[in-house]
Amino acid sequence: MRIHGRHYRTIFPAEDGEGVSIIDQTKLPFAFALARLSTMEEAAVAIRTMQVRGAPLIGATAAFGVALAVQRDSSDDALAEAVRVLGATRPTAVNLHWALARVERRLAPLSGRDRVRAAWTEAESICDEDVEQNHAIGIHGARLLADIHGRTGRVVNVLTHCNAGWLATVDWGTALSPIYQAHDAGVPVHVWVDETRPRNQGAALTAYELGAHGVPHTVVVDNAGGHLMQHGRVDVCFVGSDRTTASGDVCNKIGTYLKALAAHDNGVPFYVTLPVTTIDWSLDDGLAGIPIEERAEREVTDLVGIDDDGVVRDVRVVAPGSPAANPAFDVTPARLVTGLVTERGICPASREGIAGLYPDYARSAAE
Ligand code: MRU
Repeated sequence: MRIHGRHYRTIFPAEDGEGVSIIDQTKLPFAFALARLSTMEEAAVAIRTMQVRGAPLIGATAAFGVALAVQRDSSDDALAEAVRVLGATRPTAVNLHWALARVERRLAPLSGRDRVRAAWTEAESICDEDVEQNHAIGIHGARLLADIHGRTGRVVNVLTHCNAGWLATVDWGTALSPIYQAHDAGVPVHVWVDETRPRNQGAALTAYELGAHGVPHTVVVDNAGGHLMQHGRVDVCFVGSDRTTASGDVCNKIGTYLKALAAHDNGVPFYVTLPVTTIDWSLDDGLAGIPIEERAEREVTDLVGIDDDGVVRDVRVVAPGSPAANPAFDVTPARLVTGLVTERGICPASREGIAGLYPDYARSAAE
């Protein structure tokens, strides 16, 4: 992704080779700022406070967090502690656990300098693979958009929820990758961006990304999607996922389920975009099995914005004394999902559909 004429990934090794640079997403959309992570603890804080966020990027950050930990102390105890601390940062995105397990497996037989070198290499490979996978998701998803345009001859109206763009991944994004690729290929696309309360990842991050790329878009309140669909103003929904079960239940940012219900009721195709790293092969039933993160009340009771003097302020919007609840994700049952758009192609959201695209993974999961 290009910002201010320069290509960025959301995370990359710092120039001195001893730290990690991230785009600090808590500053967006009002300022574009890089932050440095020098220790495993700083990586854990960055994930917990959502300086970095989005399932694939959380996984990549955790991998770099392990590299920072073993660079300081390459003992088995330090490795185990890093995996424990980073693994406890956020409960829902399965990419976190996938990345930690992968790095731990790779480092377990090594020691000393070899372990440190391998940790950095593994974290960088996870990033490179994420970029490739998201690019491939974009190619498959862009075909869907081109088909809709071919059929209707009109601008394709896509509705998206939360931020599943390049800021949620290392680059390209999942749900936004098809949109960028279709737009770049000349398919006229317009995006309805759900603001995505309480953290407003849509209004703050998706709108920022789409604006930077020049994609026409309109921000709507989270409650508007159903109305837009009833009036034929949405051709297709593209959302991301934080964890998808082996039978196609999709966990994603809170509010996704309501959009899927509205899409189902109005005959609007509802696609979920995800790389293989987001599939939890150990789970079938998403409602019963996926831990849903409960975040701070304050994210609901307060809003952060910029005033006319350019000062970023946090203001309370809820009646004083009223408690708030803040479940951060929900589960959309597979039956409401039209298809999963992955780096290997598009499949039905079902055990058979997923196993058909990923026979190798399905086989090892069954062993
Ligand atoms: O709480 P967040 O911002 O880390 O939530 C994750 C998301 O951005 C999404 O729900 C997204 O759609 C899946 S990540 C590509």
